[in-house]
Amino acid sequence: MSPADWTNPLRDPRDRRLPRIAGPCGMVLFGVTGDLSRKKVMPAIYDLANRGLLPPGFSLVGFARRDWANQDFAAIVHDSVKQYARTEFREEVWSQLAEGFRFVPGDFDDDIAFANLARTLDELDVVRGTGGNHAFYLAIPPGFFGMVVDQLKEHDMVDKSPNAWRRVVIEKPFGHDLQSAKELQATLSEAFPSESIFRIDHYLGKETVQNILAMRFANEMFEPLWNSNYVDHVQITMAEDIGIGGRAGYYDGIGAARDVIQNHLLQLLALVAMEEPISFDSRNLRAEKLKVLKTISLPRRLDLSTARGQYAEGWSGGVKVPGYLHEEAIKPRSTTETFAAVKLHIDNRRWAGVPFYLRAGKRLARRVTEVAIVFKPAPHQPFTAQATEELTHNALVIRVQPDEGTTLRFGAKVPGTALEIRDVNMDFAYGGSFVEASPEAYERLILDVLLGDPPLFPHHEEVEESWRILDPIIDYWERKGGRPEQYPSGGWGPGSATAMLERDGRLWRRP
Ligand code: BG6
Repeated sequence: MSPADWTNPLRDPRDRRLPRIAGPCGMVLFGVTGDLSRKKVMPAIYDLANRGLLPPGFSLVGFARRDWANQDFAAIVHDSVKQYARTEFREEVWSQLAEGFRFVPGDFDDDIAFANLARTLDELDVVRGTGGNHAFYLAIPPGFFGMVVDQLKEHDMVDKSPNAWRRVVIEKPFGHDLQSAKELQATLSEAFPSESIFRIDHYLGKETVQNILAMRFANEMFEPLWNSNYVDHVQITMAEDIGIGGRAGYYDGIGAARDVIQNHLLQLLALVAMEEPISFDSRNLRAEKLKVLKTISLPRRLDLSTARGQYAEGWSGGVKVPGYLHEEAIKPRSTTETFAAVKLHIDNRRWAGVPFYLRAGKRLARRVTEVAIVFKPAPHQPFTAQATEELTHNALVIRVQPDEGTTLRFGAKVPGTALEIRDVNMDFAYGGSFVEASPEAYERLILDVLLGDPPLFPHHEEVEESWRILDPIIDYWERKGGRPEQYPSGGWGPGSATAMLERDGRLWRRP
């Protein structure tokens, strides 16, 4: 255990887990004024420092087109930490962290600014002992990735001595279709080797998502049932109650399928459906995810097996909210979908004939992300028809958020009746079973970048495979044209999504 850890008052001395602490390093953050930096990246860096997981000389360099000095940048980080950090604010942690803050003003096409950046990193290596190890976090629109990466290369910042590392971190969207994803990859790989490119899918940083691996592979009771002999279908839901907020610039023209199905939902599907990896190192884990993504096929009739919608006005949390087309900065005739549902097949022995239904939407009734494994009915039920009227399918529900945990739904006898059966739930809740609070996804992922630990970052091949699945659906919607079906804010999405499941004799869950 390192000294940083012994002295961390947040650490329980009985905790015997080996801490993972980053070695000497720093991070350069592009896009410091954006939401992602302010709401996620900066607070996560503070939380890591507060947990004693960053090296003492850690440095954070902000780069932006602002006329700021180091103190101005520090003030921005301070605000963000005060507002969004998960752990308590401690002055001594903050002041030690802030000593490593630097700011380099400039545009992405400004050579002088990048020369300054290079000099700043060299200086930090000397005064803060960052050892030449720096991660470049591109929290900027993807249209600028190429320009920034070229500048980093041009100014000799991507490749260092064999004893030092340079890594680049990018956030989705990784392209907007297969072709553009390949182009993006070509740009990045001109400057960075594959092992130095970290693609963030923040869902993989969530504890409940990683718990899918624990549940499936550390237990004996689930895996024997995890196949087409017992599973009727799988539903993966990512419902949000919020609308588009101030993100029109990013979202309009992108839509729900590209925004979250291409990445978060297909990654969830891959973890649920893949075979057991040889180990959880990146090579083996990614190989299994990739294998299952490659076996995914679409039903022939996309009209019957996909649905899209756009939220109309309605109610959210007791407040009247406008429809998508009336949100600020949305094109008045935008055809961007804010709800998407798709039915996918996995063509392998384990899952033959088991549909996977994925849906994601904004302005739905509540915020909930879950994976529901819905089982077939018992092959024979020695009860009267009335006795089982209120019995539905057994289900195992992995509650990703917000009420993190797992629910097992099964039938039980109703007390006092002769033998009536009704659904009951058995619950595991993170909050009730563990005393440690879950770290934020970004804490885990940023630490993994600094440690050079890649299993939780999707490989480029997974990204490509996901576009292969999605491109025909988006093409089909574009060819079909017209406006996506309107659905009232505060409901569960468009009628066409309900009809999609009803045709298969099934119902979406109402979590
Ligand atoms: C992002 C999407 O990846 O995930 C957003 O771009 C979405 O549109 C967000 O709101 C949801 O994240 P979380 O962690 O709150 O489920």
